[in-house]
Amino acid sequence: MAVKDVMDALRDIHIDNSKLSDLVKDIKLIGRVLEIVYRLPKKGMEEDIADRTRRALESLPDIEDVRVRFVEDVPSQPVMGQPMFTRRRVPGVKHLIAVGSGKGGVGKSTVSANLALSLSKLGYSVGLLDADMYGPSIPTLMGVKGERVHVDENNKIVPIEKYGIKLLSIGFLLPSEDTPVIWRGPMLMKALTQFLFDVNWGDLDYLVLDLPPGTGDVQLTLAQNVHIGGAVVVTTPQDVALADVKKAVAMFKEVQIPVLGVIENMAYFICPDSGKKYYIFGKGKVVEFASAYGLKILGSIPIDPELAQASDEGVPITESAPDSEVAKAFMGVAKVIVDITQRR
Ligand SMILES: Nc1ncnc2c1ncn2[C@@H]1O[C@H](COP(=O)(O)OP(=O)(O)OP(=O)(O)O)[C@@H](O)[C@H]1O
Ligand SMILES: [Mg+2]
Repeated sequence: MAVKDVMDALRDIHIDNSKLSDLVKDIKLIGRVLEIVYRLPKKGMEEDIADRTRRALESLPDIEDVRVRFVEDVPSQPVMGQPMFTRRRVPGVKHLIAVGSGKGGVGKSTVSANLALSLSKLGYSVGLLDADMYGPSIPTLMGVKGERVHVDENNKIVPIEKYGIKLLSIGFLLPSEDTPVIWRGPMLMKALTQFLFDVNWGDLDYLVLDLPPGTGDVQLTLAQNVHIGGAVVVTTPQDVALADVKKAVAMFKEVQIPVLGVIENMAYFICPDSGKKYYIFGKGKVVEFASAYGLKILGSIPIDPELAQASDEGVPITESAPDSEVAKAFMGVAKVIVDITQRR
């Protein structure tokens, strides 16, 4: 008697819209006693299943007795809000790219917004998720401050659209800009996973994730629950920023998220009068760091006072001045990222 014979016999029996064979968790032959373990689709069905199993199998040779046991029907998909440690892919999203850094204020959000826009200008469908739950800045940067999201008929959050990009931020849910986010960790992390999985993102080539600074619970929650295609780390050429970005790189490695490379922000300043480049924070430090860690430099973004102003006004520089040096630098980064991710 082979397992196949048992399964064949059970395949013809239908119970509660399932074939009996589909409910089998385990089959054992102990001497001449056949033991079958089922997952129970509904309480109260035990007797019916056991009877029909015995009847189906009594004619099999070499079997004296059939014993039937049941285990709880555990859903194969984790339930939202419960601790989940399987990394799920965000449905519909081809490449999920996290933008992180060790240090605050080095330009992650600026890079995330301009990278998203550059990818969109390259013809890809793009989303931008503000994962900075304590200090969301995407609504300001993208000029959608004060907007509110709603849910669709399937109870999915509908992202805000601006400049052809689908946007989501905790800022779209807070009563006002000045409301401090004082939720405790678990609630905040539940909201974060909902921002990925309970959203009608549609089909996206890229979803850019703007991370908060550091290596805290947001990064950890994401690493545990979400399949992230790759991370890019943003740093400025200052020693203090580089010291912290090393920690970020170490964290991504530890949680097995591939680091696609480093973006050097505020790398230099181009004097508008002479066109001469000034390396205000020093030259070569990021190259040195990247080669020591075996990382690729994805691009260097100059300091541009107009960029800061454009961001404050809610029109990222890639949109307001696409021919500027800084917008071209962002476009260069986007092309490198496309190149890396399409090759994988
Ligand atoms: N290349 C640049 N040239 C000029 N200003 C810049 C540049 N990059 C960023 N900034 C400015 O620096 C400030 C910090 O940038 P941003 O908010 O993007 O940093 P961040 O790393 O996301 O900060 P946080 O850690 O608080 O999330 C902003 O005012 C932004 O406009
Ligand atoms: Mg930020």
